[in-house]
Amino acid sequence: EIEKISQAKTEFISITSHQLRTPLSAIKGYLSMILEGSYGQLPEKVKEKMENVFQSNERLIKLVNDILNVSKIEAGEIEMNWERVDLREIIKEVINELSIKAKEKNLYLNFEEPKEVPKVLLDSEKIRQVILNLIDNAIRYTQEGGVNVKLQMSKGKLQIVIADTGEGLTKEEKEKLFKRFSRGTAGTKFWTEGAGLGLYIVRRFVEMHNGKIWAESEGRGKGSTFFVELPIK
Ligand SMILES: Nc1ncnc2c1ncn2[C@@H]1O[C@H](COP(=O)(O)OP(=O)(O)O)[C@@H](O)[C@H]1O
Ligand SMILES: [Mg+2]
Repeated sequence: EIEKISQAKTEFISITSHQLRTPLSAIKGYLSMILEGSYGQLPEKVKEKMENVFQSNERLIKLVNDILNVSKIEAGEIEMNWERVDLREIIKEVINELSIKAKEKNLYLNFEEPKEVPKVLLDSEKIRQVILNLIDNAIRYTQEGGVNVKLQMSKGKLQIVIADTGEGLTKEEKEKLFKRFSRGTAGTKFWTEGAGLGLYIVRRFVEMHNGKIWAESEGRGKGSTFFVELPIK
């Protein structure tokens, strides 16, 4: 009986999030065209407001996607698309995508890559999302300095290390971070809209690769370092 209810709940969430996605992408499409001036030039004031509308819509899209991902994870409905890839390429793409955000905040965003990396079997879309979420958090929760991303071999495993000079983490935060809906002080201070789902999804995706994820920090204000370890297969 309980299982039935839980299944109905998961189905409900999954259907509603799908239904929410369609109009949200229509809104995004129209807004983009309006902002590009496809329907005539906008007065500066209107344009500013429309950009805010666009950003809010982006957040909504991200939230719906996160909820959809969580409901799929809980229902055991996540499919893996294994392919052999060079992790450096995925990291470079993500860094490229986020470099504008870093620049806007005057933060550095570096990538230290080894000369040689074995191609590994992984789900590149999921790993892309893992890296995107981690670097996005690092930029979001850092006000000065920047973010260093490093790919290295460690004890026969591939390790991605994302180190920032930002808000840092307390001991309690470090333990709760990867749970559902968990938000820390940095989260509520700098980004009120987050739902605290990002790192939960990240952890589950890493675990689907038989990998490990953990965070280290010397404490509040001393920066954070996130480690992702993936087996080489
Ligand atoms: N690089 C980081 N530096 C400091 N705190 C972080 C960092 N990444 C995550 N956190 C903390 O972990 C919490 C959970 O992160 P996440 O799951 O991505 O949710 P959200 O970003 O939506 O709050 C955040 O609210 C924040 O307090
Ligand atoms: Mg986040």
